[in-house]
Formats: sequence, structure tokens, C-alpha cells
Amino acid sequence: MIPAPDRDRTPHLPPAYRLVALEEIDSTNAEAKRRAAEGAEDGTLVWARRQTGGYGRQGRQWASAEGNLFLSLVVRPDCSLAQAAQFSFVTAIALGDAIGSVAPPLIEVTYKWPNDVLLNGRKAAGILLESKGDAAQQLEWLVIGVGVNVNSFPTETRLPATSLHFEGCPATVSAVDLLEAFGRHMLSWINVWLDEGFAPVRETWLRHAQGLGQEIEVRLPQESLHGVFSDLDPEGTLVLQRPDGTTRRIAAGEVYLPGEG
Ligand code: BTN
Repeated sequence: MIPAPDRDRTPHLPPAYRLVALEEIDSTNAEAKRRAAEGAEDGTLVWARRQTGGYGRQGRQWASAEGNLFLSLVVRPDCSLAQAAQFSFVTAIALGDAIGSVAPPLIEVTYKWPNDVLLNGRKAAGILLESKGDAAQQLEWLVIGVGVNVNSFPTETRLPATSLHFEGCPATVSAVDLLEAFGRHMLSWINVWLDEGFAPVRETWLRHAQGLGQEIEVRLPQESLHGVFSDLDPEGTLVLQRPDGTTRRIAAGEVYLPGEG
């Protein structure tokens, strides 16, 4: 029998995951949310080779060409909705480790607040968290959506994008390879977060934070703020040192680094 090409093989993941492997779906996040609402268990991982309606933050379209990685993971940790937001950092560093394990050492992996992974300063991966909580603001389920540009990237984006292959990862590295690496690193970082809390995640993220100590602009729905990105606080909010000496803590917004937008 002729072996299937590497990119067509079935991914091998640690037994903690329940893999739902699909050829095509509207959006793995939409599918994971449908399944979570019907009771899908912790560790359900929806992976598709193609998406017809992939979406990102602010409802933006997420280009979903075959060959890139699209997955959504359902998790149900016992925590508040606010704590669940820390999963964007857990996921970013797990992705950074996964990319680091398949990429040549000279590729620089950095994290942009709150949920992008950059390669050599350009966006290669995005993370989208969607959750449901109860009346007491406790988490019922969290869907963690991850899109990684492996072999292609869109050119008409708000900020410059890139892909693993464009930045010099061997062309033999496939979405399946990256899915397997992500599965391993994500499991290990989730366990760090469960056992030790947010502190080690925060430290790791900060070591590779894009724009830390620099002048940035943060666009909020009603206003736009300028200041120095001085820290990530112990909960995961961005600390902005304002020119008038005051400090603002920002839980959600769009960050523009020097030279962007
Ligand atoms: C962003 O940077 O705006 C987040 C992008 C998240 C895209 C991924 S692709 C897999 C999952 N399914 C979706 O429809 N979106 C997420």
C-alpha cells in the first residue's frame, strides 16, 4: 500500500483529548460551541482541514485556506469567567512552544497582548476565546479557538501577517505536525495553570512580550489611549503608564505598536 502523505495522516494526541477531526466545517469555534452547549466534555478538540466561515476577534473574517491549522478546544476548568480569560496567555505560550519545537532557532516568537503570536514581528497565529458562564459568573465552558498560518497567509490584513513556511520553517512541517506539538504543550501548560496558577504563565509570556516598555496605543470602543506598556498585572490585564503619570489597567482592547495602524 502507498503510504498517505504526511499531511494527510491522522493526528496523534495525548489521551486527555477527544479529537473531532473534520474535512470541512463553517468554523471550528462555532462547532465547538454547539458541542459544548450539548455537553461536550473537557478536552474535546475540534480540528478541521478547511473552514468556510472562520472568524476572529471583532467578528473579522479569518482566512482559512487548506494547509493552515484550525482548531477549537473545549475546556471546563472550575474557575470564574474572569480567570478563564487567562487562557489566552496559556494558549499563546503553548503555541509559542509548539512553533519553537518545529521552527529553526533563528525565528523570533513573540506574544502580542492579548492573544496573538508573532513570528519575526508579524502575526502568524490568532486565538479567540468564547465562553459561557452561570449567574454567579462561574465558567460553564470555554472554547479556545486557534488559527495558525502554516503554509499561507492573507495579504489584505489590518496588520502584516506571515506563515511558518514563509519565515523559514521546513516545508515538510504540516498542520498535523503543529497540531500534535500544540496538543502536547497545551496540556502541559494547562496543568501548570491548574497546579500553580497564573504566575508562571505570566512570567513566560512577559519574557517574550511584544512592545513591553514601549509607547503603544490601545483602542477601546469609546476612546483611544496612548502610553507605555509597562506590565501585565497578576490577573492578565495590560498596565498602561499614561503620559500624565497615571496608570490604566485594560482588560480588553486593540493594541497598536509603534509603526502600526
Ligand atoms: C484573531 O486573531 O482575531 C483570532 C483568530 C482565531 C481564528 C481561529 S481559526 C480556528 C477557530 N475557528 C474560528 O472560526 N476562529 C478560530
